[in-house]
Amino acid sequence: MINNKRSEEFSRAGGERPEEEKRQTMSGLIKRNMYCGKPRLSDEGKNVRLNGWVQRSRRLGGLIFCDLRDKTGIVQIVFDEELPIDVFASAEALRNEYVVGVEGVCRERESKNPELATGDVEIRAERLEIYSEAETPPIYVRDDDNVSEDLRMKYRYLDLRKPRMQRNLTFRHEVCRATRAYFSDNGFVEVETPMLIRPTPEGARDYLVPSRVNNGSFYALPQSPQMYKQLLMASGTDRYFQIARCFRDEDLRADRQPEFTQIDLEMSFVNVDSVVSVQEGYIKFLLKETLDIEVMTPFPRLTYDEAMSRFGSDKPDTRFGLELVDVSPIARGCGFAVFSDAVAAGGAVRGICVPGGADAYSRKDIDRLTDAVKDYGARGLAWIKLTEDGVSSPIAKFFTDGDMDALLGAFEAKSGDLILMVADKGKAVFASLDRLRAAAARKLGLVDESRFDFLWVTGFPLFERDDDGGYKAMHHPFTMPDPRDIGRLESDPGSVHALAYDLVLNGTEIGGGSIRIHDRELQNRMFAAIGLSDDEIKSKFGFLLEAFRYGVPPHGGLAYGLDRLVMLLLGEDSIRETMAFPKNQAAEDPVSGAPGEATREQLDELGLELSGT
Ligand code: AMO
Ligand code: AMP
Repeated sequence: MINNKRSEEFSRAGGERPEEEKRQTMSGLIKRNMYCGKPRLSDEGKNVRLNGWVQRSRRLGGLIFCDLRDKTGIVQIVFDEELPIDVFASAEALRNEYVVGVEGVCRERESKNPELATGDVEIRAERLEIYSEAETPPIYVRDDDNVSEDLRMKYRYLDLRKPRMQRNLTFRHEVCRATRAYFSDNGFVEVETPMLIRPTPEGARDYLVPSRVNNGSFYALPQSPQMYKQLLMASGTDRYFQIARCFRDEDLRADRQPEFTQIDLEMSFVNVDSVVSVQEGYIKFLLKETLDIEVMTPFPRLTYDEAMSRFGSDKPDTRFGLELVDVSPIARGCGFAVFSDAVAAGGAVRGICVPGGADAYSRKDIDRLTDAVKDYGARGLAWIKLTEDGVSSPIAKFFTDGDMDALLGAFEAKSGDLILMVADKGKAVFASLDRLRAAAARKLGLVDESRFDFLWVTGFPLFERDDDGGYKAMHHPFTMPDPRDIGRLESDPGSVHALAYDLVLNGTEIGGGSIRIHDRELQNRMFAAIGLSDDEIKSKFGFLLEAFRYGVPPHGGLAYGLDRLVMLLLGEDSIRETMAFPKNQAAEDPVSGAPGEATREQLDELGLELSGT
């Protein structure tokens, strides 16, 4: 692993030139020759100079014990009464979060502390410098300090002192370092693209920046570098990458922030397979470098249709089974009108079979699940418990013995199992069962948290319906249609697939991209299909289309969500744990208080008038 190796080297490097050391001593700085987390038995007898924060300090008889912390860990310092009186008096004054320098000798500890990496040793102090005193901090600097996230975010600089947060920041850095190494070694060039741009086509709401020089005009902050990286392909860059900040004004979730980071990539002269194989090489390298884990490549590939029908999701978690079963053929002719009507209306009846669910789920639990699926648009949840006494289900009375046997057979249900089914048209069935699958797997402990299940989802639909009943691009309008479907672009757009791919890890979309359209005529047909007028095309994408008139290679790429990737590799459940200064639920920065007000002068310069002022 990179991280341990490198910091070890630093901590052992020691050896400032003697005259430099003398100068530091005179200025009151105890020049560090080791990090706090590093002393071991093999260092016994060594002179050690440490800098850090006081985790806690306590007096026991004639001794003062002080735990000293830096980003690498904690070590115990001992001050005894035989020290010069001023040193001992300073030690007595130590309080939590004081920042100090200590010089002393490493020695074996009498009562060892197996909880600490340094727990076999302690440092017998000879000198102490207090660099900075500290008021009582509003949150404890301890991983198990169970304070609200609001408080953690407000005092983020204290929160970041915690070992877990230091580990997360360091790990994120290691991911970036391995990323730069891999792509640099594979012919990619890191190019920065502008932050003040015209709106990008990703489809979320833009953050706008008013222009002072051109009153009434606005820049957008990039939702992604999409159009610039395509311009770079037209510029002959061949292989581009960037660790790029992106901005999307959307509602927050555990895996969404208004400001986030992409590992953004684009390649010339490629097809889906060449993009996929470079990316699999990257993921393999990344996990080896950062976690010392071997992942098997190639990753499984599922088509969008298969992912939906087997898991109810285009980002399935494949660490557990509980696959969906389509029982529409049985439901079609059955006596339960909710089921037969749903199928007759062009919908479906699907379900999952939860092994051992009959006992694990009480009526109350099932009522709760029923409420939960209603949030996803389902009108109800049908269930069957199969026990040694036979079938128990509120819908059993609607089924003939033959139909019930057929249902149980379709789910391969065994005694003790619980079957959950949803009947509906449209997305509600998939969305509900996706949710039920995840909840059941968690409840029954079916998720192997040590696994990293990567998979590609390919063959997405090119379009999805927009709110007005028309079509919009599912990814963005430069996505190449599958050549086999191009003939249906006008006659049956809903059936056209895209040369697009998402990389999924443990049920989260960590990256997505596509092969792009580089043919002008095809691009125009695509714009027509989503109902863009010539003026809209020109104002939104004109500069890219113009560039493509002068020779553009076939190209494609993708972008990973760095924050999500780091979150999953660390086993965290929010991307906020991977960012130094994330925004809160109200899209504010709790540390600085952003966003703030603008002064009258600023508004005047920008030619802006606030309504209500
Ligand atoms: P897409 O919109 O799928 O593709 O974004 C790529 C990846 O970025 C991550 N992501 C986010 N992470 C945190 N907070 C957010 N608000 C957020 N939104 C997206 C996801 C996602 O998979 N230009 C295209 C890529 C391409 O076609 O090359 C793009 O931006 O992990
Ligand atoms: P009802 O006859 O309306 O009392 O419904 C009987 C059972 O069918 C209840 O357990 C409902 O939750 C369930 N149910 C109702 N609508 C649906 C639906 N669309 N899909 C699945 N189950 C449903």
